[in-house]
Amino acid sequence: MLQYAYGNEECIVSFLGELFKKNKTDAVYEIKSPNGRVVATFILDRGRMSYFVKKDERLVLRQSKLGIALKDAAPLVENFGLVRAYTKTFDETWKAHWGEQHIVRNHYNETAIYLAEVEKPNRLLTLRFRAYDDGVAFRYEIPAQPEMDKLVIADELTEFAVDTSARSWSIPAYQPDRYEYNYSEMPVGQLTDAVHTPLTIDTGAVCLSIHEAALYNYGSMTLKMSGPVLKADITPLSDGMRAYVELPFSTPWRTVIIAHDMLDLTTSRMILNLNDAPRGDFSWVEPVKFMGIWWAMYVGEWTWALGERHGATTDHAMQYIDSCRNLGIPALLVEGWNDGWEGDWLENGERNKFLESTPDFDMKIVSEYGRANGVEIVGHHETVGFIDNYEEQMEDAFKFYKSLGIRYVKTGYAGSKMTINGQREYHHSQLGVLHYQKVVELAARYGIMLDVHEPIKGTGIERTWPNLMTREGARGQEYEGGALAPSHACYLPFTRMLAGGMDYTPGILDVTNYAKRMATTITRQLAYYVTIYSSMQMASDRPQIYEVNYHDLYEFIQDVPLTWERTIPLMGEVGKCFVVARQEWDSPNWYIGGVTNEEGRRVELYIDFLEPGVNYTATIYRDSEDAHYRDHQLGYVIEEKVIRQGDRIEMYMAPGGGFAIRLRKQ
Ligand code: NOJ
Repeated sequence: MLQYAYGNEECIVSFLGELFKKNKTDAVYEIKSPNGRVVATFILDRGRMSYFVKKDERLVLRQSKLGIALKDAAPLVENFGLVRAYTKTFDETWKAHWGEQHIVRNHYNETAIYLAEVEKPNRLLTLRFRAYDDGVAFRYEIPAQPEMDKLVIADELTEFAVDTSARSWSIPAYQPDRYEYNYSEMPVGQLTDAVHTPLTIDTGAVCLSIHEAALYNYGSMTLKMSGPVLKADITPLSDGMRAYVELPFSTPWRTVIIAHDMLDLTTSRMILNLNDAPRGDFSWVEPVKFMGIWWAMYVGEWTWALGERHGATTDHAMQYIDSCRNLGIPALLVEGWNDGWEGDWLENGERNKFLESTPDFDMKIVSEYGRANGVEIVGHHETVGFIDNYEEQMEDAFKFYKSLGIRYVKTGYAGSKMTINGQREYHHSQLGVLHYQKVVELAARYGIMLDVHEPIKGTGIERTWPNLMTREGARGQEYEGGALAPSHACYLPFTRMLAGGMDYTPGILDVTNYAKRMATTITRQLAYYVTIYSSMQMASDRPQIYEVNYHDLYEFIQDVPLTWERTIPLMGEVGKCFVVARQEWDSPNWYIGGVTNEEGRRVELYIDFLEPGVNYTATIYRDSEDAHYRDHQLGYVIEEKVIRQGDRIEMYMAPGGGFAIRLRKQ
């Protein structure tokens, strides 16, 4: 008697031999979305698996193959027969701990197709499909079964046969700077080198985002053309294999969001919905705004390493705490307080000590001073990818923070690869994925919330682990001063941000600093707090910039919320511009942010989302008519207006500029 179970249903195959005789090697299943417009069709054709996807009767993905190649065993690809299939409808509404949308509906139809090879060794495989109104998802499930308790995955053969002439936007995979590249536009057919997901595609008829959800214990999926078709390319381990797994095992969900336009793409919550509800109590999780002993290092005033200009001294930290208190910022990040930054810290990361501070810094004094002033410390773990070194100290390092009442930690994985078990591995490999997950779970055990830099990509696991507050995972503002064009932040909402929140480190108002000149106008720095979602947001500049130079603009940074009731994209085009309105969580107030690329733009916004018949005070932070990201970054205007539902407002965004609006119900 063989029993295997997944999800809610259970399949008991009582007499395998009899069953195999009954197997059909041909079958077709249609999985229709609740509104019937999105349809995934699974095909078993003479024992081989494939699928195609339609929306409104039009092909979105042509027939695409499915399968898994194994090391030392025949691939799970042919000779399959149908055992049985189950279908169910699921409809729930859940409340987020934080996010772009407070209340989320998770509504789909699901079919699980249980297959078994009709010839020896009669291996079992399940394909589970879900159809949502905003896309489709599927995954492979390999049940526990006789004569196979673990396997080595050599390749995943999943195809996504999208029109090769469709336009796509992506960043390259397997590169030294991990996820931190500029976006390129090219026809799908030219993706001959692997690209990261989410991969954004415009077919002319629909907009797509191909990605994955619930990435655990497996290499992350990249995509590249294989012959005439786009195919999954799972990030390999150093031995070339994609994953070592024990059965039962499920791959992450393969996901295709299908939207009628690019703005619609940004409203999908399918990736979060494909993740489980949290297990356990996460009511302690709390979004936070923070400043940092940080940007001063980037502009060359201070250093991470010990020396004359060392940033993380007890004195500096206490001064910054005073500023946080004065500015109403509840937390302070301290980088460079621990031993190990001397010399070339990128090369010497193996020396990092996560519990020992430099002689000029005392974490106990600093955290106590912070507590007395209502300011929490955000701890820092820069691993430089030396995972073996970090994992030896990790638990004690979290215990140390916990003992001092520190609830937030920023982690970092600078470096092109990681050292795990003495081997050089990709961040996005199975071993990398396992490490990041270990940290999330350990942090949760110690009541710690995380901001992960150089992370693996988001796949919605923050629904299950709400203490994973945010991550970097794209070029952030650290690349300003030459390597960021204004268009970059106009790509992000349609690409990277489809994978979840991002710590872009906004709010750098010293935009003309000679050491790190920003390719933005000053008001655009405020817009980022609305256009780029993050539940931990940094007020990234040095305190004096807010206290002395631009207190008027700072007021917006202080006010802007970190979690939203609703989000409504108002206008946008990939790489050109993006304007979004967000309603504050449990409040009638709204915020609007807009950014443009190198081109100036006048946009008309139709304010139809406010409560009817009520006056709102709009505080508008915008570029002056003569502002420009190159030679007049500081041209800004702050004005107030009364706005009501149904009003139209015209906003000007200078080249490389943007605007932010706060709408308060009167
Ligand atoms: C790169 C991170 O992105 C950055 O925020 C951090 O300051 C440095 N590494 C040092 O950890």
